[in-house]
Amino acid sequence: MTTKATRAVGVDIGGTGIKGALVDLEEGVLLTDRVKVATPAGAEPDDVLAAVRVVLDTLGVADAEVPLGVAFPAIVRRGRTMSAANVSQKWIGFEAEEFFEEGLGREIHFANDADVAGIAEVRYGAARDVDGLVILTTLGTGIGTALLYNGVLIPNSELGHLQRAEKKKDFEAVAAYSAMERESLSWKEWAGRLQAYYNHLEFLFSPDLFIVGGGVSKHADEFLPLLDLQTPIVPARDRNNAGIIGAAALSLTAD
Ligand code: BGC
Repeated sequence: MTTKATRAVGVDIGGTGIKGALVDLEEGVLLTDRVKVATPAGAEPDDVLAAVRVVLDTLGVADAEVPLGVAFPAIVRRGRTMSAANVSQKWIGFEAEEFFEEGLGREIHFANDADVAGIAEVRYGAARDVDGLVILTTLGTGIGTALLYNGVLIPNSELGHLQRAEKKKDFEAVAAYSAMERESLSWKEWAGRLQAYYNHLEFLFSPDLFIVGGGVSKHADEFLPLLDLQTPIVPARDRNNAGIIGAAALSLTAD
């Protein structure tokens, strides 16, 4: 009989930062400070691997005793990364899980970053016990999405790449938090773009709840009240740590 681990390490690789911590899997809380290093320019596989090693070394968990989950900002199918919106094109069609396992000398669990944030919120946070359709969006360098129906994840939804018809651009390019920073938008101006995005998601999916994660969710009070939607919209319980917690929690849901 195998005993389920009660602690695991989660590493959340993003377009801007790579974050990690040791996580208590019963409560879904961080047991250590969060370690963050910058994502190397260009986000090439070897450089990202080296940065993940730094995170694990700094946490003091570089040995293989504690389970490790790794989240990545791309479509992930059976351990392969299949897209590369904010990372090197080398990740497209790349055996990423195997690459990290060989490079780190240990087994890992590997999945899309928004999907694992969804797993964290279902297990410990705002999506817990919610019936029907929950759409979690992470607003960061890009826009990531997790679709959860009655608590079950439908992976790789990639709804940040829906296009604004009139602009012929992905919503991610105009409504991610990085767009707000790049264009020095006010909360109100940015909220106008989010309004168009969430209206579109509402029209397509008729969800029961929106959850907002990503770095900017710690400022949810600045922009969520500016949105006028039919669907309730709340910040992720774990704000930007949902990715770390969900990556760690993968060790409970995967083989
Ligand atoms: C990627 C997604 C990812 C999201 C958030 C998007 O550009 O295509 O896979 O979940 O960014 O990092």
